[in-house]
Amino acid sequence: MSFTPFDIEVIQSKWEQRVEFNLVESGVHPLRLEELLGFPGSELEVGALLATELNYPHVNGIPALRENIARLYPVTSGAAADIDNVLVTVGASEANNIIMQTLMEPGDELLTQTPTYMQLWGMALNTGHTVKTFGLQADAGWALDLEALNNGLSSHTKIIAVCNPNNPTGHIMTEAEMDAVVEAADRVGAWIVADEVYRGAERLREDETPSFYGRYDKVLCLGSLSKAYGLPGLRIGWITGSVDTIEALWRRHEYTTVSTTILSNKLAALALSPAVRPQLIRRTRDYVRRGFPVLEAWMQEQAGLFSYTPPQASAITFIRYHLDINSTQLMEQLCRETGVFVGAGDAFGMDHYLRVAFGQDKAVLEEAFARISRVLHQLQAA
Ligand SMILES: Cc1ncc(COP(=O)(O)O)c(C=O)c1O
Repeated sequence: MSFTPFDIEVIQSKWEQRVEFNLVESGVHPLRLEELLGFPGSELEVGALLATELNYPHVNGIPALRENIARLYPVTSGAAADIDNVLVTVGASEANNIIMQTLMEPGDELLTQTPTYMQLWGMALNTGHTVKTFGLQADAGWALDLEALNNGLSSHTKIIAVCNPNNPTGHIMTEAEMDAVVEAADRVGAWIVADEVYRGAERLREDETPSFYGRYDKVLCLGSLSKAYGLPGLRIGWITGSVDTIEALWRRHEYTTVSTTILSNKLAALALSPAVRPQLIRRTRDYVRRGFPVLEAWMQEQAGLFSYTPPQASAITFIRYHLDINSTQLMEQLCRETGVFVGAGDAFGMDHYLRVAFGQDKAVLEEAFARISRVLHQLQAA
């Protein structure tokens, strides 16, 4: 069987440690360990961390961490999540991986949004499954194409995959769009896999993006500390779902990684504690909200060259460039000639786009944007 590589991760592995300006990483600028431990209200002392015995943690995540994760899924109807509804994984990456192993059987189809983070898409192809897509519409503010969603459904649809807030567009689904996804899944008995790793990184609203948790019985929700919390190095993600499905996923987790690390579990429990979590979310939103005007000013200066819909959440935006050059080629040229690394639209299923991250300090963004403009103007003039 042919193998489809995970393009965005391949590109990141190759370039991210070499470039001067990394505008591919979709989270905000990461915290240093001392910043995390130093938040007011932090209950983890350096001494207690140093005294940690470097043993395996609970394989499904230490209870204190699962308790803090469960608290993120209150539901107005049905039961709120508790710790048995949560499995801690090595990032949302492992979560996606074991979900595919657990749910997809021969003959099953994946129906996924596009553009999106393409891990499920590639994994489904690599295990011989059919993948169908439904678009977010570029000319309609990235609204869901509900007709395509319904057309993509079949009696073989096992998973409908959504990423909300969406990577790479930053679009947040409306309640009507969420209802439409639930109705579509219910019609054929499909699972909804909702990747919600950017929940908490809202740019415009103070409340958090609503979760799919509790809206339908066959829902699995993914979270991660990598994006909305600025802690990708902890490699902590999670899945929230019904107790029996979480148990089944846990059985695959034992085969895949056994567990995350004890240090990551402790630090993640601290990050999601009631005292620290709001401060991390504030920090992330400050990066998103400070970076966005810099991006917006750049977009206005380059009118004619770019068009885009401002993201509603996350520190990333998906920009259409009006030049006749392939996005992977352009991305590589930018890396080589300017030291600025941006995501190629190809890696999200749409050529002629660049995904640009703006969760960095103003001076960094201004210099990086100026360098990108120089190359694009040369290409335009050629
Ligand atoms: C939408 C989405 N899901 C999952 C991941 C995987 O993140 P991690 O494994 O760091 O939690 C990413 C990383 O970019 C992402 O953007």
